[in-house]
Amino acid sequence: MKSFFIGNIEIKTPVIQGGMGVGISLSGLASAVANEGGVGVISCAGLGLLYPKGKGSYPEKCISGLREEIHKARTKTEGIIGVNVMVALSNYADMVRTAIEEKIDVVFSGAGLPLDLPSYLTPESVTKLVPIVSSSRAAKVICDKWQKNYNYLPDAIVVEGPKAGGHLGFKKEQIQDQHYALEALIPEVVM
Ligand SMILES: Cc1cc2nc3c(=O)[nH]c(=O)nc-3n(C[C@H](O)[C@H](O)[C@H](O)COP(=O)(O)O)c2cc1C
Repeated sequence: MKSFFIGNIEIKTPVIQGGMGVGISLSGLASAVANEGGVGVISCAGLGLLYPKGKGSYPEKCISGLREEIHKARTKTEGIIGVNVMVALSNYADMVRTAIEEKIDVVFSGAGLPLDLPSYLTPESVTKLVPIVSSSRAAKVICDKWQKNYNYLPDAIVVEGPKAGGHLGFKKEQIQDQHYALEALIPEVVM
């Protein structure tokens, strides 16, 4: 299998593991995938629920939980680790900021349009930003906004069709419709 790049990061095994909350894709799964040369992804969804004994409020537990999962993953792998932050999360900003502060390799963000994602980067940031989309229209809106407001373009784009187990808003009848198949969506997004 051919490797590919997210920005300047080479993914030797061309697999990006989907972020899965709540508590399904944490440091264990993410580091195992990264150790095989793919991108292992920690999901931010509901992290505070998994660290109930942590100090502070629910949002504070989510922040410390994310830091802990990233640190744990780093002890288990030197491979590529990403964090999945859904735009729909009430603590989206906290999670993106924390992942970037922890110098995570990649932030993946979908379940909404991550229109302000580059605003969380600082001059010291090393993190790559990758939106998750299910249409070329969404990809274009994101690219146009990022370019105009932040002079930044996505380091890669994840495209998910109606057969993905994600948060995509397809209708039931579109699942078998060839117009919405990945084979149709990907070339549209690339153009
Ligand atoms: C149990 C489960 C939990 C998921 N949680 C998230 C999540 O927290 N954030 C997200 O963006 N996608 C989530 N997804 C979607 C996956 O990341 C992935 O994009 C989707 O399953 C498509 O990959 P597939 O075609 O291999 O199923 C979840 C999927 C599953 C099955």
